Amino acid sequence: MKTKLFPALLLIWLVIVFSAACSGIRLQKYPPEACSLLPGNQTMDVIENTCFLCHRGDFATRQDVCERKEMIQDAVLSKRMPKLKSLSEEDLQILLQWE
Ligand code: HEC
Repeated sequence: MKTKLFPALLLIWLVIVFSAACSGIRLQKYPPEACSLLPGNQTMDVIENTCFLCHRGDFATRQDVCERKEMIQDAVLSKRMPKLKSLSEEDLQILLQWE
C-alpha cells in the first residue's frame, strides 16, 4: 500500500507545480489591490505583448490587471519588468497612463 501511495503523491505534486509554472501565475504571493480604474485597450495590448510570456495567468482579465495596477506601474517604471526584455518609451507611457 505504502509503495503505491508515494508515486501517486509525486504525480499530483508534479501536476500542481507544472500547471502553475506554465500558466504563468507568479504573483499569487502578493495580495491584490483594490481595483479603482480598469485598464484601457492599449494597456491590455501592451501587457499581452510584453508580459504574457511569463504572466498569462496573472493578467488574464482586465479585473486581474486592475488589481495589480500599482505593482505593474512600479515594476515597469523601475525597469524590473518585463524581465529579459525592454519596453519602448511609448509602451511605458501607455502603462503609466493606464489608457
Ligand atoms: C521572461 C519572463 C517575464 C516577463 C516577460 C515579465 N515578467 Fe514579471 N516576473 C517574472 C518573474 C519570474 C517574477 C517573479 C520573480 C521576481 O520577482 O523576480 C515576476 C514578478 C513580477 C512582479 C512582482 C515583483 C516586482 O518586481 O514587482 C510584477 C509586478 C511583474 N512581474 C510585472 C510584470 C509586467 C507588468 C510585465 C510586462 C511589462 C512582466 N512582469 C513581464 C517574469 C517575467
